[in-house]
This record gives sequence, structure tokens and C-alpha cells, in this order.
Amino acid sequence: MNASTSVVDPRLDGRAVKRIVFDAQTIARRVGEMGNEISRAYPDGHVLALGLLKGSFIFLGDLVRQITRPLQVDFIVASSYGDAMTSSGDVRLVYDPETELEGKHILLVEDIVDSGKTINRLMDLLGARRPRSLDICALLHKHAATELRFPVKFVGFDAPNEFLVGYGLDHAENFRHLPYIASLQ
Ligand code: PRP
Repeated sequence: MNASTSVVDPRLDGRAVKRIVFDAQTIARRVGEMGNEISRAYPDGHVLALGLLKGSFIFLGDLVRQITRPLQVDFIVASSYGDAMTSSGDVRLVYDPETELEGKHILLVEDIVDSGKTINRLMDLLGARRPRSLDICALLHKHAATELRFPVKFVGFDAPNEFLVGYGLDHAENFRHLPYIASLQ
């Protein structure tokens, strides 16, 4: 085994992943709890779960199946990291949802809040569409976001300040398919 690699998994193709931070069972249990929290928060439902691609694709799919209220799903696509390991801060909107946002309870579903730049930009943009309510749900929150101007209403896990991959999160488009969340550091 390569000395810098501690996680052994054929999905990794020998690339270095140091440790599993949240295993699949832990994630599933917490996503179930979040589904209950969100169901209680919107007793009448009619929520638009707006998944921020690409990172939220697995989380969103698992989460919406745990929400027991009427719900719609759409996506928003933004990109800031490219192949780098830190956010460029230049958040580009690549796809705008086609669903009417005005008057809806919008729940923006994020995989991870890191610097908070993506959330800041998207919340400004979505708030201007006059939704009935606008809240954030993030599986992971690093709490390192000194620039974050909005509260994250639903948080799955407080995350260590390390570069995390798996369960939708990538490095240079790799590792998104890992069923667990692991650290590259
Ligand atoms: C990542 C991640 C979040 C965002 C968080 O997305 O999925 O959306 O960065 O970073 P921030 O809080 O520092 O802004 P990325 O731009 O890498 O695109 P991806 O979702 O397609 O991986």
C-alpha cells in the first residue's frame, strides 16, 4: 500500500484518500433525521427543493425521499472551484431553474458550505425572485465561512476544515461516487 494512502477501496484507483470522515451508515441516519426536520418545518409542504449541482446530486436524491410533504425538485448550477482545491470566489451561474420561484417555499440544497461565497451569491439571486420563503439546507458546514451573510437553517454535519470528497463532492471531478465522505488531507 502507498504510504500516503490509508483508505483501501477499488473505487479510488490507487489515489490517495486519507480517512473516512462520515461513513455511509452515518450519512443515511443523519439524512433521515434531516428529512424529518424539514417535513416538520413545512407542515403544508409545497416546497421547491433546489439542488445546487453538481455536488448536491446524491444528497438531494436521498434527502427528498425522506421528506413526507408535497414537494417539487429543480436544480441550479453554479461553479467556482474548477479543478482547484480552494474556491476562486468567481461564482458562475451555469443553469437557471425553469420552475417559477415567486411565491414558493424555496429550500436551497447544498452539499457543503465552505467559504460561503457560493451561498451568498445564490441567495442574493434567488431572493430577488420574490419567493415566499428562502432557506438553506447543507449536508456539511465547515463554519469557516467568515463572509457568509445567511444562516444555514438545516445542517447535516459540522465538517472539519479539510478537503472532503465523496457522496457528491469531488476533486477535479473524481470521487463523487464514493458512498462515504473522506478527507484528502
Ligand atoms: C463546491 C461545493 C459548493 C461550493 C462551496 O462547488 O459543491 O457548492 O463549492 O464552496 P464555497 O462555500 O467556498 O463557495 P463547486 O464550485 O466545486 O462545483 P460542484 O458542485 O460542481 O463540485
